[in-house]
This record gives sequence, structure tokens and C-alpha cells, in this order.
Amino acid sequence: MNEKWAELESKYFFPVGKRLPVTLVRGEGSRVWDEEGREYLDCVAGIAAVSLGHCHPLVVKAIQEQAPSLMQVSNYYYSVPQIKLAQLLCEHTGLDKVFFCNSGGEAVEGCIKVARKWGKEKRDGAYEIIVAEKAFHGRTLATVTATANERYRAPFTPLVEGFVRVPFNDVEAIKRATTAKTVAVLLEVIQGEGGVNIPDDDYFPQVRAWCDEAGILLMVDEVQTGMGRTGALFAHQLYGIEVDVMAVAKGLGGGFPIGAFLAKDHCAALALGEHGTTFGGNPLATTVGYTVLKYMIDNDLPAQVAKKGEHVERRLRSLADRHPMVTEVRGKGLLWAMELDREVGEEAVRLCLEEALLANNVKPTALRLMPPLTITEEELDRVVEIVDRVLGRIEAGQPK
Ligand SMILES: Cc1ncc(COP(=O)(O)O)c(C=O)c1O
Repeated sequence: MNEKWAELESKYFFPVGKRLPVTLVRGEGSRVWDEEGREYLDCVAGIAAVSLGHCHPLVVKAIQEQAPSLMQVSNYYYSVPQIKLAQLLCEHTGLDKVFFCNSGGEAVEGCIKVARKWGKEKRDGAYEIIVAEKAFHGRTLATVTATANERYRAPFTPLVEGFVRVPFNDVEAIKRATTAKTVAVLLEVIQGEGGVNIPDDDYFPQVRAWCDEAGILLMVDEVQTGMGRTGALFAHQLYGIEVDVMAVAKGLGGGFPIGAFLAKDHCAALALGEHGTTFGGNPLATTVGYTVLKYMIDNDLPAQVAKKGEHVERRLRSLADRHPMVTEVRGKGLLWAMELDREVGEEAVRLCLEEALLANNVKPTALRLMPPLTITEEELDRVVEIVDRVLGRIEAGQPK
């Protein structure tokens, strides 16, 4: 059956993505099924989006109840679900103003616009944004410019002006790059697509202090790390700091598309007519977003994630002890990568699939695991057993 879909895919689609030979048709919790009825444990979770697990009953119910009433009205009118979600998000982020959109890329794009507008108003037209090596911020023209990967950027030159790149986890580099033209620093708290790169504990407090000293904004892209993924509702909270601007998406929708950017009052610079969206914040998406966020808060899901994170960390580290090809285990909460001493990421993902596990080769040399936040410790143990077998198979079959 996959051959038929592959043929149609190559006929009708831009060939921008590489698909694995499996067609998924159903999901429940941390498991998905293909069209032949084969079950898989899912440690990709729609790229860290399916936060409450596939088809969580509350998410399904929210959609079923909202869809027959109202799905889309435009932002010409008030919408109750949107207001409820805005209030809940602001209360739990320490930020004051929100704008809803449909994806992570749009959310980061919005942050960039906030910074530019604020720079015009408050910093003599400063517009440069300091971004990090290995960063990923999206595929729109501005966010792809902010993204580090040359392969994603090169085909689309000329790119958007005004981004300066520095090494991640190096506050002195940010200081050196700051000029009169600088308006903001934009960082992922943990770099997801760059390979699950964790900063030193004092990096964000130092960046915060520098932004305050220099009078520039600290903007975080929590599209991947937000919504409980790292064991705090938002990853920057792990480092005890507040931020000026933040992008969220992915986990906020529990599988349904929604994004948002938020800002503190002092820099919420967008005024009437300066930004807009047709679908962003529609009643269906915000009903789902509200349901997901409320569930996370009411059940203290971030604390559960932190506990499961400690469990899986122990298991992954013991795996690393037994497999010399694992050179590093990095992560927090339920976002993990295993660095391998050779370029077998693709092979590892293929073997995981054979062993009924969805995993991701975030780099040619790294395997990433980002299951639904509702995954059980028993399921995590099964994940680790599968990875154990896969690493064993690679070691047996492919000498370094
Ligand atoms: C940190 C980060 N920012 C932005 C994005 C872009 O989000 P989207 O694909 O929803 O546009 C991603 C997607 O993986 C991401 O990980």
C-alpha cells in the first residue's frame, strides 16, 4: 500500500520532505496504528505537538462540542474561547498581551515584528536581532533567516535584513554582537531542531541581565520547549528568568494547529492595523488551546513531565553505559537526544520503525525522542528497550 501512496505523493507534492514507508491512520495516547493495523509507540508526537497524546478525550470532546456551534468568525468580532485562552495564557506566562496565529513560524514572525516596531518607537529605529548558531525558528522568509541551517536559507536569497548570528550558550558573544542597531536577542531555550542543545544553567540569567543592561528585548522561541515539554510550563522558567516576548505553538493545540506570540506591556508595540490574521485565534483552535492549557495546569502536567524525565534520563544513561556508540545523552523533561559516534541517525530511525517505534533523527548523528507528555513510565521503558535493541543491531551490523 505504501508504494501506491509514494507514487501519488511524488506525482502531486513538492518534493521537499522525505517520508518513512508507513501510513498512519489512527492514534490513541502514545500509540499510533498504520493502515495494516500495526501498532507503534510514538516518540515523535507530530514533532512535539501532540502534547496530551493522540486523540485525548478532552481534546476530541472540545472539538466535537465547538465545531457544530462556530469554527471561524474572523477577528472583526469578539470570541469567548479566544478571550478565555488569552487570559489563561497571560496568567501563566507572566506576559501581558497575546496575538493568536496558526503555527510556530507565524508566532516567531510575530515576535520579530514586535521587536522591529518596538525598536522604531523606543530604540531610535534599531532593528537587528541577535540569533544563535544551530537555531531553528521556522520557514517563513524572516524566520528562515533567523534559522541557522544554510541549506534552508540559501535557496531563498535575498533574505530579510537584520539578523546577527552568534554561538549558542555564549553570553560574551551576545555582548560583543550588541550595537546601537540591536533591538533584541531571539533564542530557543533548548535548541530542538539543532539537536536538543541544552545551555549552561547560568546562560539565560546572564543573557537576561545583559538585555536589561543594554536595553534590548529578550525574546524566546518556546514553540518546541513550551507547554510542559521540558518539565516546566515554559522552559525559560527552569532558569528562573522572565522574558519580554515569547512564541508558542505545537503543544498548545495538542495536535490541532494554533500558535501565539506574547509580550510584556512595555514592549507590546503593535498598534491598530499593524498585524492581522484570518484564521488565527478562531473559536475552534482556541477552544482546543484552552482545553489543553487548562488540563496541563489543573493536573500539574509539567511536574509529571519532570518526574518522567528523570526516569527516562536514568534509563537512557544506563543505555549509554552499555553502548559505546552513544557519546552523549542530552535533554530535559520529555525532549531527549542521544548523540552517536557515527552517522547512523537515518538507519536508527528505520530500525526503530521496524521495531514499532517512531523516533526522529534530528541530526545525522543523533536520535531524538519527544513522546506525548502523557506517556507512561512503563511505555517509556518499552521505548528504551527498543532503542537498546536498535543500537545493538547497528553495533552488530555496522562496525565504526
Ligand atoms: C523552535 C521552533 N520554532 C519554530 C518552529 C516552526 O514551527 P511551525 O513548523 O509550526 O511553523 C519550530 C518547528 O519545529 C520549532 O521547533
